[in-house]
Amino acid sequence: MGGDELHETAVEPELNTGWVGHPYHYETDVGSTNDVMKAWVGAGSAQDPPAGTVLLADHQSAGRGRLGRQWQAPPGTSLLFSTLFRPDWPANQGGWLTMLAGLAVVEAIEAVAELPVGLKWPNDIMLNNDGQWRKVGGLLLDAQLQDDRLVHAIVGIGLNVNIAQADLPDVVTPATSLMVAGGDKAIPRRPLLLACLRQLEHHYEQADRGQSPWQAWNDRLITLGRNVTVTLGDGSPGVTGVAEGTDQWGGLLLRDAAGALHTLAAGDVTLRGGPRSDEERR
Ligand code: BTN
Repeated sequence: MGGDELHETAVEPELNTGWVGHPYHYETDVGSTNDVMKAWVGAGSAQDPPAGTVLLADHQSAGRGRLGRQWQAPPGTSLLFSTLFRPDWPANQGGWLTMLAGLAVVEAIEAVAELPVGLKWPNDIMLNNDGQWRKVGGLLLDAQLQDDRLVHAIVGIGLNVNIAQADLPDVVTPATSLMVAGGDKAIPRRPLLLACLRQLEHHYEQADRGQSPWQAWNDRLITLGRNVTVTLGDGSPGVTGVAEGTDQWGGLLLRDAAGALHTLAAGDVTLRGGPRSDEERR
């Protein structure tokens, strides 16, 4: 399929960014792109990669998801990449990175694959397939703090592009791929990657100028107005209630049956249906 090649020689000439993807590294197989990037960042000043460095792998043997989970994808089917940022932002602004990365991926999918896409709090990329929201991708943020400021942040993005139905991972949130949701039409990965990098740069620059991505991100959340259960993936029962909104740092505001309002910084959301239906949201 044309447009699926992700080697440096194919991607670099087509990059339409100022600094994201400069440099761009491609590997056929790594453990985890986030882990390799972390090792590069910690390797000492002479080797220190600049902000905007991207590492993409065609396959990961130890891909990591949130809450200690694995992230698995067959070779040649996905976008699996990490981007390094060096935001000199206060630590509590770290959530902006998740927000802007989510926005970037959603906008790239809309532009290239033209599929109905949304975000499930906090880090899931979701596609609406026959009225049901399924997970098509996820974000993993590895940040380093010093004196309550962000020193660097590695934003890992995993997107199921051309995974066949039979090869989709059996995960907590039902999964799909762009190909499956689009009626088994394969999507070329390179235009999608280029759009992701372009939008990442755009949204990061806006945030770096002090413009919060919160409102645009909040508008994309399929979670709001829904009955949900939020768990921490540690076996504890979690909290159930109506997701009423989010705060400016990305915390979820959840109203339980007794009327108490909880602010949750992290967790895993299970959508329980009503009061809003999927069709009403998007
Ligand atoms: C999640 O939904 O749990 C987050 C998944 C993040 C997966 C990506 S793939 C590229 C990067 N490298 C990793 O090991 N994980 C992230």
